[in-house]
Amino acid sequence: MVALQFGRSGRHNAGMPRFHKTTRLLVIALAIMTCGAAAPPARPQRHIPGSISRFLAHHWVYPLPPEGPPPRGYSALEASLSPSSCGECHRQQYQDWRTSLHSHSIGPGLLWQFRIMSQTQANRCMRCHAPLAEQKALAALEFHWPDAPSTPPPAYVGPHLFQDGLVCAACHVRRHRRFGPPPPAGMPPGNTPGLPHGGFVASPAFQHSRFCATCHQSPPGGRSLDGIPFENTYAEWHASRFARDGTTCQSCHMPDRRHLWRGIHDPAMVRRGLNISLQVKRLSPLTGVAQATIRSVDIGHDFPTYLVPKVYVTLYALGPGAGAVREIATETIGRSVNLRLTHEFFDTRIPPGGQRTLSANLALKPDWPARIELRIEVSPGAHYVHLFRHELRHSGRYDPATVAILRQALSQTIATRYLLTRLVVPVPSAAGQSALTVAN
Ligand code: HEC
Ligand code: HEC
Ligand code: HEC
Ligand code: HEC
Ligand code: HEC
Repeated sequence: MVALQFGRSGRHNAGMPRFHKTTRLLVIALAIMTCGAAAPPARPQRHIPGSISRFLAHHWVYPLPPEGPPPRGYSALEASLSPSSCGECHRQQYQDWRTSLHSHSIGPGLLWQFRIMSQTQANRCMRCHAPLAEQKALAALEFHWPDAPSTPPPAYVGPHLFQDGLVCAACHVRRHRRFGPPPPAGMPPGNTPGLPHGGFVASPAFQHSRFCATCHQSPPGGRSLDGIPFENTYAEWHASRFARDGTTCQSCHMPDRRHLWRGIHDPAMVRRGLNISLQVKRLSPLTGVAQATIRSVDIGHDFPTYLVPKVYVTLYALGPGAGAVREIATETIGRSVNLRLTHEFFDTRIPPGGQRTLSANLALKPDWPARIELRIEVSPGAHYVHLFRHELRHSGRYDPATVAILRQALSQTIATRYLLTRLVVPVPSAAGQSALTVAN
């Protein structure tokens, strides 16, 4: 077996699968987002300019080769791949990135799985979660994989690059050269003499949605269920009016080039994308109807785009007195599949511009109900909550350290659940009247 080297091209994907059959099945079930290690980069689409697709095919080659030794003349700071080093000069991007999920892509939810995976399998996960060759080498050292490098990491790699997750260099650095979007007016072009790290190469590919597709879209032939890929964000966007308008992933997720990437985990981001209303009508003295409507007005893909999150919509009847509450209708928005990812239960996601309504017929009494309440709760990691609970129930086969990380993953994922919206509407007193409340 060839040892993985930090400084030159090695075999990042080597490592023998040392699994018996049951474990392998389990791992397949865990690999929701996997596209397959040997999958070629997604085929460029016709409307993407040739120069951009050529750039991206080269930029997102799989697996990424090691950066190699830094060019002579780079200071230690310029040579460093560590995000905190980039942050010495690019302060705003670093501060933003630190609050984003891209900087938390190596967490307990992934790490307990790495302890039961082969190097080959884990490297497939790292294609999106920590894509640099140097990160894979550090992971191999940490997990004592057979293909670990024989030398300690050089200074420009540093000890923490694996834990740092989706780092700046994964998107911006190839063989120590910086690549970025065309600079804004007033900023120096990339070939200006004297710029740190030898200047930079500008490409409009950074402003194209296709840039993100490398990790947010299963490639052709990737894993799918009922003909719909597990990750279909780019295709959903491509079919929407946002693609026609030129509203890219970056327009919504990186406004003003900010590196925040807010998504389903952020209530304000989700609210901005939706139009939510609750209407209650009294049809006759004894009958009425309550109707909640959720419209996707500013989301460039299905809501939610992945099969992981679930959105729980519930209508309650509230009595005149405090504490009198009864659930009258409930529905889940999302794509629900079993843990083995072999069976789809339902797919109620809302496409861009689409809407979903939840109605309940009301049997009215003179003083009941007094009001109708709509509650919308979001569990961004719902699928993983099920998976981690299932694994804990069968955790007899794991060592105590793995179980501890799994418990941490479960509690962290549960903690991300939040109340998105609560609307309350009085039941009108006269037949033919209706009351309406709109969120935002
Ligand atoms: C997931 C990929 C990704 C990661 C990770 C990432 N960036 Fe970026 N970065 C981009 C994209 C895409 C753009 C262009 C956005 C646009 O033009 O709308 C960009 C733009 C930039 C720019 C140009 C900003 C400007 O205002 O002209 C700099 C500088 C930069 N990034 C530095 C960093 C640093 C430093 C980090 C880490 C702290 C980082 N990036 C992490 C994708 C990334
Ligand atoms: C190298 C792979 C990679 C690239 C390139 C990439 N992402 Fe991501 N992205 C990820 C991973 C992995 C996560 C999940 C991190 C976690 O939670 O563990 C993520 C998370 C996100 C989230 C957070 C979603 C949430 O659940 O709230 C958003 C939004 C996002 N990415 C948008 C983008 C956009 C826009 C681009 C292009 C500019 C992009 N990403 C490029 C891998 C990538
Ligand atoms: C094609 C890119 C890609 C690959 C390959 C990939 N993931 Fe992910 N992963 C993502 C994205 C994107 C998200 C964020 C999904 C969301 O926010 O809904 C994510 C989220 C997760 C999460 C939940 C967030 C967290 O950090 O706890 C876990 C756990 C996870 N992935 C595990 C894995 C494992 C294990 C593998 C390998 C078997 C893997 N992923 C392979 C893209 C990928
Ligand atoms: C010693 C300071 C310094 C360090 C360290 C540094 N940069 Fe830069 N970088 C600059 C300057 C100055 C520019 C040119 C002005 C600008 O665009 O901000 C630049 C330009 C860039 C650009 C091009 C921006 C554009 O408009 O397209 C990218 C991308 C970039 N750097 C990424 C990085 C990343 C990633 C790191 C860490 C691996 C890093 N830089 C480390 C100072 C630095
Ligand atoms: C018109 C604005 C808009 C565009 C364009 C857009 N998004 Fe989003 N995105 C949102 C909003 C709002 C959310 C939060 C609601 C949700 O989760 O669907 C979101 C959520 C997400 C999430 C969270 C995970 C999930 O299951 O929802 C990811 C990942 C993501 N977007 C990636 C992308 C990528 C990649 C593109 C481009 C192919 C893109 N987005 C285009 C607005 C947009």
